[in-house]
Formats: sequence, C-alpha cells, structure tokens
Amino acid sequence: MAFPSLLFFTVLLLSFSYSISTNIEGNALHSLRTRLSDPNNVLQSWDPTLVSPCTWFHVTCDSNDHVVRLDLGNSNISGSLGSELGELKQLQYLELYHNNIGGKIPKELGKLKNLISMDLYGNKFEGNIPKSFAKLKSLRFLRLNDNKLTGSIPRELTTLSNLKVFDVSNNDLCGTIPVDGPFGSFSMESFEHNRLNGPELKGLVPYDFGC
Ligand SMILES: *[C@@H]1O[C@H](CO)[C@@H](O)[C@H](O)[C@H]1NC(C)=O
Repeated sequence: MAFPSLLFFTVLLLSFSYSISTNIEGNALHSLRTRLSDPNNVLQSWDPTLVSPCTWFHVTCDSNDHVVRLDLGNSNISGSLGSELGELKQLQYLELYHNNIGGKIPKELGKLKNLISMDLYGNKFEGNIPKSFAKLKSLRFLRLNDNKLTGSIPRELTTLSNLKVFDVSNNDLCGTIPVDGPFGSFSMESFEHNRLNGPELKGLVPYDFGC
C-alpha cells in the first residue's frame, strides 16, 4: 500500500504549500487591517482564519487566487500603511483614496511590479514620495494629490515610461518640476498648490532648489 500513501502525502504537501503561498497575501492584508481604524466596519469580512483572502470584500483575486485589486476608496479608514503591502506581488490596483490614512508611504510599495494604478489621493500621508516607485514599470496612474507630502519629486520617476496620469497637487512639495520622460506631457494642474518652483531648468538651478 505504498503508492496510495505516497499519493496522499503528495496531495497533502501540495495543498499545504498552496495554502502557505495564498496566506502570504492574506497575512499581509490582515496585518494591514490591524494598523487601521475602521469605524464603518468595511473590513469586517477580513477573516484571517480563511485559507485565502479572495472571498473578503474589497479584495479581488485572479484565477490563481492572487490578490490583484484592493478597493478601499471612500471607506472612512484611518491609521497608517506598513511594509507588508509589498507582499502583494500580483497587485494591479491599489485604491485607498479619500480616507484619513496618515504616516509615511512605505517604500516597499516599490515592490509591486505589476501595479497599474496607485490612488492614495485625499488622505493625510506625509514624508517623501518614495524613490522606489521608479521600479513600478507597469504603472499608468499615480495619484498622490491632497495629502501632506514634502520633499522634492524624485527624478527617478521620469523613467516610468507607461505613466499616463500623475497628480501631486495640494501637497507641500518643493524644488522644480521634472520635464523628462512622461513628465513632458503632464499638465501644470497636476503640480499646483505646492511650494514647487516651476519646470526644471537643467544646469541652471538644482532640482531640489528651495527644499
Ligand atoms: C467616519 O468615522 C467617524 C468616526 O471615526 C464618524 O464619526 C463619521 O460619521 C464617519 N463618517 C462617515 C461618512 O461614515
């Protein structure tokens, strides 16, 4: 009876490793939940005892049970984000707009290589725009407007050739506005209501002039 027991153990091992891999994402989302205050109970369905987070509200998975969307815009949540969001390797849409989330934007969001859209606008984020965002080569929409971000716009972002929409208006950013790459086509409204000093004048003033 060696064969059936081998089969049994193979199946057991496969389902075990499967639940571990999906739980990395479930665990990441659950640790996010522990950082957030949720007066409207929008995260009530986020039950960490389930094998995968794919049945939770505001979470969308692909056919391989990987999280591809997080939709928590207009959810009245507060608190902060942590490095664990960097574990959602297949994430394409990170929608956290119009909440009261504060603290720094974790640099680990730069690990989300498949991200198409990051909407963090209308929160209370502070600190710098992470340079690590330059690694988000699939990114098309980056909206960070209406926060409390400081520092200059990282020049590394000019390498994001797929970027179609970029909005950092209504923050406290300083320095000059990049002109290279996709930044050549963004309208000035994307930059208004900051302490920015107009478009970059290469060789004349440093990009972080006035910071
Ligand atoms: C948001 O949460 C606060 C409590 O933190 C509550 O007083 C307020 O009514 C909520 N707003 C909405 C629109 O649900």
